[in-house]
Amino acid sequence: MKSIDTQVAVIGAGPAGLALARMLAVQGIESVVVERQSRHQLCTAQRAGIVEQPTRDTMHELGVDARMSREGHEHAGFHLRHRRRTHHFDFRSFGGGAAMLYPQHHLVTDLVDAADQAGQPILFDTAVVAIDGHDMPLTTGTSSRAATVQAIGPAGPVRVRAVTIAACDGFHGIGRAHALAVEAAVRTHSRSYPFGWLGVLARTAPDPTEGMYCVSSRGMSLHSSRGAELTRQYLQVPAGTALRDWPDERVWAELRLRSASDDHPPLATGEIIDRTLIAVRSLVTEPMQVGRLFLVGDAAHIMPPTGAKGLNLAVSDATVLSYALGAFFAGAGSGELDSYSDRALRRVWQAQMFSTGMTDLLHTRDDDPHAWRIRCAQLDELVANPDARRALGRLYVGTPFPTPWRWQGNA
Ligand code: APR
Ligand code: PHB
Repeated sequence: MKSIDTQVAVIGAGPAGLALARMLAVQGIESVVVERQSRHQLCTAQRAGIVEQPTRDTMHELGVDARMSREGHEHAGFHLRHRRRTHHFDFRSFGGGAAMLYPQHHLVTDLVDAADQAGQPILFDTAVVAIDGHDMPLTTGTSSRAATVQAIGPAGPVRVRAVTIAACDGFHGIGRAHALAVEAAVRTHSRSYPFGWLGVLARTAPDPTEGMYCVSSRGMSLHSSRGAELTRQYLQVPAGTALRDWPDERVWAELRLRSASDDHPPLATGEIIDRTLIAVRSLVTEPMQVGRLFLVGDAAHIMPPTGAKGLNLAVSDATVLSYALGAFFAGAGSGELDSYSDRALRRVWQAQMFSTGMTDLLHTRDDDPHAWRIRCAQLDELVANPDARRALGRLYVGTPFPTPWRWQGNA
């Protein structure tokens, strides 16, 4: 069996795992990233695309923002269509900066390229099948590499021995399942919704170029872009619907009905080149640590997709953990590591509060005319009240990450 020794074994090469490995490398801490998918699969899957200002700043400090700065589109706010009128929310005037519309798989590609250039090992096509030693007392030094992940790669079994393990392996990974299985104190808090999203990629020009949420008694629609000639559009659909229920004509008819307004021409239609069903759910697993095993990003929490917080939380968790690992490997003891979960969870729950609130506000539940009228009143208030917009804008653009860390200063 192939065996590799390192300081941190990172399971998963999504935004959480790749950002973490980069943040550790900047501090001179070794890691090995183990990823189940091929490089091609990882770098091409359509995901969300909102990069918050603090995530942009972090990517800049890590030296991986060149393409994002060139090709991304500043997304300083959004449009909201309500009662057939279009309202623009511009959060720049509130001083919190601007988010960037930049597809997640491009950011992942940039991080993989940067890892290549830096000689950071990523084992693609290698699935972790077991985690051991999470409960061994945590000490520094090479003899302390008592935590292991067992994986199966293209050339057979691989074992990575490490001081700590970062499970950055998403919602379907092994990390959360392991934490729940070995430690009764680990709990999952979740909320389900009777709807999901259908996401399509279409060859049409975005109009408006910033994202637009449309509220309708038929359900929410969201119109976002992927450059000058591609749009990414989402429809609220009943939970359990199947892709075959949504032929192109039905998708466009529904998108057009939900986005109909008295102040803009109807939505342009075009060829649909990709379609995905996206679950809408809220889930947080806490604490995000069991001994030497740390849960990071989607491995610990799933946000409803409204507001696109998942990628950003993955990077903020990675920031908190890398800061704590930096202190630990510098000999400062395990105090910061012990605080990882509490510190990360404050921002996680803040994002849950935001995404859950946005989800409740924008989606329509069947057979509840009272709730529909209350939502209309809330939306009227949001449109009319600058203080309500400011509060929303602060959370939409992204609140600061919960560490004083600045990468350039520490490189
Ligand atoms: N072994 C190795 N890799 C694994 C395993 C395993 N057993 N299980 C899962 N993985 C990999 C997946 O293939 C995936 O590439 O872990 C990675 C997890 O990445 P993401 O799912 O992207 O999760 P994360 O990095 O936390 O990114 C945040 O927020 O809401 C979302 O779309 C958003 O994906 C984004 C996420
Ligand atoms: C996207 O562009 O994928 C997107 C935009 C806004 C959201 C969610 C997703 O709230």
